[in-house]
Amino acid sequence: MEQIKWVRNTMEKSEDKYLSVMTTDEVEKAKHFHESFPQYSETPLVSLSQLASTIGLNSLYVKDESYRFGLNAFKVLGGAYAMGKYVAQQLGTTVDKLPYDVLTSDKLREEFGQATFFTATDGNHGRGVAWAANKLGQKSVVFMPKGSTEYRKNQIAKEGATVTIEEFNYDECVRKATAESKKVANGVVVQDTAWDGYEDIPNWIMQGYGTLAMEASAQLGKAGTDVPTHIVVQAGVGSLAGAMVGYFSNLYSNTPKKPKFIVVEADGAACLYKGAVAGDGKPRIVEGDLPTIMAGLACGEPNTVSWDILRNHADYFVAAPDWVARLGMRVSAAPLKGDTSIISGESGAAPLGFVMAVMTMPEYASLKNELELNESSKVLCFSTEGDTDPERYKNIVWYGLDK
Ligand SMILES: Cc1ncc(COP(=O)(O)O)c(C=O)c1O
Repeated sequence: MEQIKWVRNTMEKSEDKYLSVMTTDEVEKAKHFHESFPQYSETPLVSLSQLASTIGLNSLYVKDESYRFGLNAFKVLGGAYAMGKYVAQQLGTTVDKLPYDVLTSDKLREEFGQATFFTATDGNHGRGVAWAANKLGQKSVVFMPKGSTEYRKNQIAKEGATVTIEEFNYDECVRKATAESKKVANGVVVQDTAWDGYEDIPNWIMQGYGTLAMEASAQLGKAGTDVPTHIVVQAGVGSLAGAMVGYFSNLYSNTPKKPKFIVVEADGAACLYKGAVAGDGKPRIVEGDLPTIMAGLACGEPNTVSWDILRNHADYFVAAPDWVARLGMRVSAAPLKGDTSIISGESGAAPLGFVMAVMTMPEYASLKNELELNESSKVLCFSTEGDTDPERYKNIVWYGLDK
């Protein structure tokens, strides 16, 4: 069985200019915006207390994003907020003046006119963008990487998007979305990753993801955990991880003992891990087909803004083989008596799978020690999607197949 790889973050710090993207004030604005949606409700923070005591932790919490907006994944938080911010910017106003009922009104549509939103996606981000564009009465065009499933494509098409599966990987799809957007009038790229010269929209997307972190911190407080000891978050391009690590670093900036931040990637696409191993602070790229069942994590080029936040604030980078995701999916689906079941898809289950592996497999005992995971630990994980590919989900969880 392939091993989990990990590296402690020993990179020299930068000037940390991007941490301010994720201040609590900025995230508060995003949360306010989301709360104006009729589809909005807080997603559950599940306490797996039986599992925690069985594997030797104090507590283990999983934020279950399968309940987000009826879309089965967290991603819409980012796309919708970025589109709200973009419309506000174009109209010379601020996003607080554009709650859902204003944003989706005929009056606003007339004022704003017609745009086409372009994006590349493994599925979840594109579905969120297509959904939001549809609600705004706008067009969307979505490019999916080689190997994407028809089911995921159809979910996006149902939202009225023009969607194609391409012959290349996610990062190439991003380049195609950018090129195509230039060929039409009012073409706007809503991409969930940043690069030099393209930062506003991805920063808004990260702030949108902040809503789930802000909910989780309040829910943790209610559950009696003010500050978790470990926060484990999965990464593709790293926008989510940068958003979570950024938000919690700001929130706990005056806390004597900060949580350890652990970033988990699919080992077939572990660009952040690769950068951390290189250790010089520069991001690294993974090229090729990016083979992994964790479709949402199959991205080889880091978000440059997130990378900077993670470089300064993440503690460990992990490259996880696919069996880690499968383990997390099965444990989520079949909990111990007294715990709640969570429908967690391949990309969603990687953090819990990692915690399970480290706590229960003897070959990771030294990692467990190094991470100081023990009976006092209060661990927060994110399950970022439900069964976004139901056939694959059943194959893995019911039939014990690899994919
Ligand atoms: C379900 C799920 N989890 C996690 C991620 C990772 O997010 P990011 O690409 O921002 O690192 C994605 C990205 O598409 C996703 O779909």
